[in-house]
Amino acid sequence: MKSIMKHICLLIFMCLMCIDVYGQGFDLTIRQEARGTAQGEWDVTLENASPCVILNAYLDCTGFQSRRDIDPKVILKQGDACIVNDGQRINPSESLRFVYAWEDRFPFKLLNQSVACS
Ligand SMILES: *[C@@H]1O[C@H](CO)[C@@H](O)[C@H](O)[C@H]1NC(C)=O
Repeated sequence: MKSIMKHICLLIFMCLMCIDVYGQGFDLTIRQEARGTAQGEWDVTLENASPCVILNAYLDCTGFQSRRDIDPKVILKQGDACIVNDGQRINPSESLRFVYAWEDRFPFKLLNQSVACS
C-alpha cells in the first residue's frame, strides 16, 4: 500500500513537471536590451523558440509608452494589451523586433497566446 502511494505521488509530481516544461517551452520568448547607441532606447526581440506556431499573442502593455514610433505590425497597443504581429502566425524560429524609446525599461510580459502544433 505504501509503495502504491509512493508511485502515485511520483506520477503526480512528474505530470506537474511536464505541464511546467510545456508551459514555459511554448511561450513566446521576450528578450530586451538597451541599445548601445542611444540612451533610453530599448531593443526588444520576440522569438518563437517553440516547435509550434504561435498566434494571437498579446503582451501586457499597461502603462507602456514610447517616444518613438513602433511598427504597428510588430506590436499594436490596444488599451492595456499589445497585440503581436497583428495576431498573425509566428512560425517556429521566427522572431520579430522593435525598438522603443523611454527612460525606463518596460517589463513586457506575455498575456496570452494560442499555439498550433502540427
Ligand atoms: C488575450 O488577451 C487579449 C487582451 O486582453 C484579449 O482581447 C483576448 O480575448 C485574450 N484571448 C484569450 C484567448 O483569452
